[in-house]
Amino acid sequence: MLNTTNPTETQAWQKLQAHFDQSDIQLKDVFQQNPERFQQFSTSLGEELLLDYSKNLITEETLALLTELANEVDLSSAIKAMFNGEKINQTENRAVLHIALRNRSNTPVTVDGEDVMPAVNAVLAKMQAFCAKIHSGEWRGYTGKTITDIVNIGIGGSDLGPYMVTEALNSFKVEGINAHFVSNVDGTHITETLKKVNPETTLFLIASKTFTTQETMTNAHSARDWFLSSAKENAHVAKHFAALSTNAASVAEFGIDTDNMFEFWDWVGGRYSLCSAIGLSIALTIGYDNFEQLLAGAHSMDQHFANTEFENNIPVLLALIGIWYNNFYQAESEAILPYDQYMHRFAAYFQQGNMESNGKNCDRSGSPVDYQTGPIIWGEPGTNGQHAFYQLIHQGTKLIPCDFIAPAQSHNPAGDHHVKLLSNFFAQTEALAFGKTQQQVEAEFIAAGKSLDEVKDLVPFKVFTGNKPTNSVLVKKITPHTLGQLLAMYEHKIFVQGIIWNIFSFDQWGVELGKQLANKILPELNNDAAITSHDSSTNGLINTWKAWRG
Ligand code: F6P
Repeated sequence: MLNTTNPTETQAWQKLQAHFDQSDIQLKDVFQQNPERFQQFSTSLGEELLLDYSKNLITEETLALLTELANEVDLSSAIKAMFNGEKINQTENRAVLHIALRNRSNTPVTVDGEDVMPAVNAVLAKMQAFCAKIHSGEWRGYTGKTITDIVNIGIGGSDLGPYMVTEALNSFKVEGINAHFVSNVDGTHITETLKKVNPETTLFLIASKTFTTQETMTNAHSARDWFLSSAKENAHVAKHFAALSTNAASVAEFGIDTDNMFEFWDWVGGRYSLCSAIGLSIALTIGYDNFEQLLAGAHSMDQHFANTEFENNIPVLLALIGIWYNNFYQAESEAILPYDQYMHRFAAYFQQGNMESNGKNCDRSGSPVDYQTGPIIWGEPGTNGQHAFYQLIHQGTKLIPCDFIAPAQSHNPAGDHHVKLLSNFFAQTEALAFGKTQQQVEAEFIAAGKSLDEVKDLVPFKVFTGNKPTNSVLVKKITPHTLGQLLAMYEHKIFVQGIIWNIFSFDQWGVELGKQLANKILPELNNDAAITSHDSSTNGLINTWKAWRG
């Protein structure tokens, strides 16, 4: 059982509040005073990943107090509880063991006294054998042709992770295999995707932990109808449909051969599932060996997280710094800004990862919290974001802590693109941290031959206050291994924050009400009768739709 310490009632929290009230940390000053600040406030994982957290509004004292907070809420015991397979997802009475999915050390991990590693390894072996058959061409479609297209049908955690990874690792794609992802119940998504594929050469992966999700099952049925309109015989479904799920009974009921079912378990949360069978679309797209490298990268971060003192622990540092802004500076959001076009879905992936995990208003005792919990997560790749929303980060009125992520080496070293990209990556955090003073603006005008009288009205608009906090994560190259590290880094950051905020990070009851109401409304849409059973707004919208639906 996780403890139920209210973080705001700890001594560390009171000290942090006093520290916040007293200190006005200016990045310009702390960098000037300490030439070693980068060495002091940066850390790395092996030779592949560097975290520079020096451009944060923190001092040694801030970090010491934040670490005290982690100790006071007994973060160490919570980490051990997760790794030991305790049922820390208490509202669902489940263990939380995505770390077991990539436990390349293969040490036993037990749930209810049973080691889960043999089952994990068996599913990985089945995925490997399946990939080999597809890639070698041994697996043939109903007309004897090899598979060229994979369509993953899933939503949320059964979509965002595999889609993000296959895009991020585009350079590792297996020749001759195209991946497609269908998630939205909007018929446009499946319709447009099916236009691009041929039933004879397409494999559908129905990815759903529960195998009951409305969007996924609707898309899966439409895909099967489309397939059978060509293949005609139900028996052919076996060659073109596989299931990634925990629910064998519903998979069989749908008509998928259970030999083609890749299992995972209730101790894998949907948004933490890409290292499970849900990653089959990844393994098929980038090759099984690369999928294993992804697992190995995540495992290396898991080991670092479980075994490193908090002062040098990358996920813990990120979590503590996030809490400093969220709960003391009252920052409402965080931006994730990858300077890598292939990582264009990374922020969207962790939007679910973070917001579905820590968007909670009830503490672990069931009482409403009276402090802020999870932030709003958003972001886009640089440099596109620079020409869209960075204006507000630089000169707006809101504090938006940002994570900048970039690879040192590009997969596309075309001309001078990568140095230009990286010059922007370095420049943005510098600009955000140090800004531009009125004196600097004036000096620039004078250097350009203008008189101060001429420009005085313009000067205030050109001033940048700076002191905007950022983390920079530099990886050597985006590979399956480093992507695995980044993945686990953010997963554990989210976990640490949930522990400190005294909330349950691994359930998602907040998505249920909308689903329930949609199920209630659906039959009401199947006739032309005027609807009066809801509030006037909902009735009005439904009745207008009925009049307009054509
Ligand atoms: O939106 C709620 C949710 O349960 C997510 O947590 C999950 O990732 C998604 O739906 C899909 O669920 P499933 O994999 O069971 O179809």
